[in-house]
Amino acid sequence: MKKFSIVVAGGGSTFTPGIVLMLLENIKRFPLREIKFYDNDGARQKIIADACAIILQEKAPDIKFSYSTDPKEMFSDVDFVMAHIRVGKYKMREQDEKIPLRHGVLGQETCGPGGIAYGMRSIGGVLEILNYMETYSPNAWMLNYSNPAAIVAEATRRIKPDAKILNICDMPIGIESRMAQIAGLKSRKEMRVRYYGLNHFGWWSRIEDLQGNDLMPKIIDHVKKYGYIPLSDTAHVEASWNDTFAKAKDVSALDSTTLPNTYLKYYLFPDYVVKHSNPDYTRANEVMDNREKTVFGSCRAITEQKNSSAGHLEIDEHASYIVDLASAIAFNTQERMLLIVPNNGSLENFSSDAMVEIPCIVGSSGPEPLVMGPIPLFQKGLMEQQVAVEKLVVEAWIEKSYQKLWQAITLSKTVPSASVAKAILDDLIIANKDYWPELK
Ligand code: NAD
Ligand code: G6P
Ligand code: MN
Repeated sequence: MKKFSIVVAGGGSTFTPGIVLMLLENIKRFPLREIKFYDNDGARQKIIADACAIILQEKAPDIKFSYSTDPKEMFSDVDFVMAHIRVGKYKMREQDEKIPLRHGVLGQETCGPGGIAYGMRSIGGVLEILNYMETYSPNAWMLNYSNPAAIVAEATRRIKPDAKILNICDMPIGIESRMAQIAGLKSRKEMRVRYYGLNHFGWWSRIEDLQGNDLMPKIIDHVKKYGYIPLSDTAHVEASWNDTFAKAKDVSALDSTTLPNTYLKYYLFPDYVVKHSNPDYTRANEVMDNREKTVFGSCRAITEQKNSSAGHLEIDEHASYIVDLASAIAFNTQERMLLIVPNNGSLENFSSDAMVEIPCIVGSSGPEPLVMGPIPLFQKGLMEQQVAVEKLVVEAWIEKSYQKLWQAITLSKTVPSASVAKAILDDLIIANKDYWPELK
């Protein structure tokens, strides 16, 4: 069996150790000869990488491992780029969340003005990684889960339409795992779904078991009472995520024939979200105080004691969708997966040049999107507004246009007026001066 070489871009991410452990767990179906880490923050990456070196030495000494901030070294001779960068890191995520809240608008990593601000930072970073791949390993594929995926995907569609990049999100996977539990199945892989929407903005329109039995009535009945919280809930999730899964109860009430992505709460209940936010302590603070401290603390302990059992790093089994995707390309598995791809007629009454999240069959030559047919008026109306926001952000970045970015923020369903949009934009420009193009 062929063995592959991969580079993790954003080696210093809090998700990197969990993904390395997940890759080791799946090594039989996706064999590796080399793992490399690339990050533009060498000091942050070193803490994660030194611990991963010890883990790999213990568990898989045959896999060559290296890390660097030098793109030529890290992007040469790779088959896959697994990209999860966060341009501006948590310090800027905190600004994305807190600036809109100061104006009474919700502050979220990927939705509303915060997601737009993050998009304006991410586009350049993701394009840079893509260019490194095309320069040093032109046959490689980039599996991108850097956020905000919707805006990043639209930017690469516009600027590099032929690039070998696949954009994927783990939210539907997390929700489907809960749905499987609700339906009494062992795994989400025992379900076959129809789904349509934009990234962090979509609906399941059909869910069947592998025999073709309709599971929608049972799951809808549960979600209407409890949201996406299974009756015997054993998952360790923080209170803020638990609230999001529970709130799906109210989100689902808007349409009785589909099941919603949890992120729709930000667009359909923004007043509720603002009311339940603490403007001085947002999700970025929670992540810095919990996940970042635990992961970096564990890595430091492993490096000091030169032993992987000195830390508490968990396998990110849920991230095995990345191996599913890489294997689909590497071994032509023809697996059915949700990806963010150009619509091209799949949603027949929606713009063909919109980046939509839909099921695709994935093989060695990439994704083949499935036809999801026409979409209902409620969803179509919401999606048209949101896709226009995403396209305006990309145009604003390309043209360095203040006006288009103001239009984008104004058009976001989370923002009440053009004057509030302008006030938020002017604050965001100051906060992002080291990251955004200078707007005209
Ligand atoms: P993090 O800040 O811990 O890690 C991001 C890393 O990217 C940092 O080490 C940073 O130095 C590095 N980086 C920033 N800009 C870079 C650049 N231009 N080139 C190279 N490296 C750069 O963040 P995290 O919380 O671990 O999340 C990482 C990313 O993964 C985020 O974009 C997050 O939104 C995304 N994510 C996506 C999904 C999904 O479903 N699509 C799921 C989870 C996380
Ligand atoms: C889900 C989404 C990701 C997002 C993440 C945020 O997994 O699909 O796109 O980045 O949640 O999680 P966090 O724990 O960082 O708030
Ligand atoms: Mn996502």
